[in-house]
Amino acid sequence: MPAYYATAPGKIILFGEHAVVYGRPAIAVPVLQVRSKATVTFDLRSAPGKVLFRAPDINLESALSDLPENHPLAAVIWKAASAMNLSHIPACTIQVASNIPIAGGMGSGAAVSVAILRAFSTSLGHPLSDEQVSKLAYEVEVLHHGTPSGIDNTVITYAKPVYFKKGDMLEILKVKHPFTLVIGDTGIQSPTASVVGDVRLAWEKASEPFEAFFNAIGAISASAREAIESGSVELLGQLMNENHARLQDMNVSSPELDRLVEAARSAGALGAKLSGAGRGGNMIALVMPDNSEALAGALAKAGAKRTIITEVRVT
Ligand code: MEV
Repeated sequence: MPAYYATAPGKIILFGEHAVVYGRPAIAVPVLQVRSKATVTFDLRSAPGKVLFRAPDINLESALSDLPENHPLAAVIWKAASAMNLSHIPACTIQVASNIPIAGGMGSGAAVSVAILRAFSTSLGHPLSDEQVSKLAYEVEVLHHGTPSGIDNTVITYAKPVYFKKGDMLEILKVKHPFTLVIGDTGIQSPTASVVGDVRLAWEKASEPFEAFFNAIGAISASAREAIESGSVELLGQLMNENHARLQDMNVSSPELDRLVEAARSAGALGAKLSGAGRGGNMIALVMPDNSEALAGALAKAGAKRTIITEVRVT
């Protein structure tokens, strides 16, 4: 049986999470060590329309026709079929595998969507453009998260460091000197939608302080962009610490995240912060490359369930 596959990387937010939902700029980078993979295998003997999903990581094996239309996996296929003007979907099995932590702030949902959109459209001879892939993955994010900023689908589709502001043209960051990050996973699942929802409630109750947090974070992202483009790694570390403090002010950190951030700083990180929605999921630490293994060890000792060392560069 003919089979086609595509993969998409994970991501981390370097600066600007939450504030980006309210129109402030943010910076995100792909994490190429973790990936989602979608494989489409055609079943030439079955009638068109018979589509089977297999996603063992989430214990799902189901026919497309048995899933609600707005189920994130089903929605990807319906949206792709409509963008491609398909009159019928050939019988196939879509296998999804991913080693991106679920609900960990690393973009697992968007990566699955992007991988399926690419594998499915290429298998049918109509590969969707990056712009279409990102747009459709965004529409699926809306089903997952309600009010996504669009940064996850963008950085995952283009797989390059991005400076992102809602509604603005995509900007790929020029990374003057590659730099090294250690990612530490608290192991606590924290669905983005619920943390983003809590921030919205808090902002509705007290818009003035929250607007001030968002402005401060937006300014940090703008300074971080200059630091990345001019290769000022030390400044970048300080900006990460400042960004973490503002996220603490917004009540989206957690004791586990704070413990890992503190452990990273004590072990010589140039800066550290939570990454993604917060309350659980992952934190990141900026390190000198020769200190990365030791720092990963310090994070594991402080309770990290998994660590990843990654280098940020323009690929
Ligand atoms: C999630 O990766 C980042 C948030 O800012 C949400 C969003 O941008 O959609 C928390």
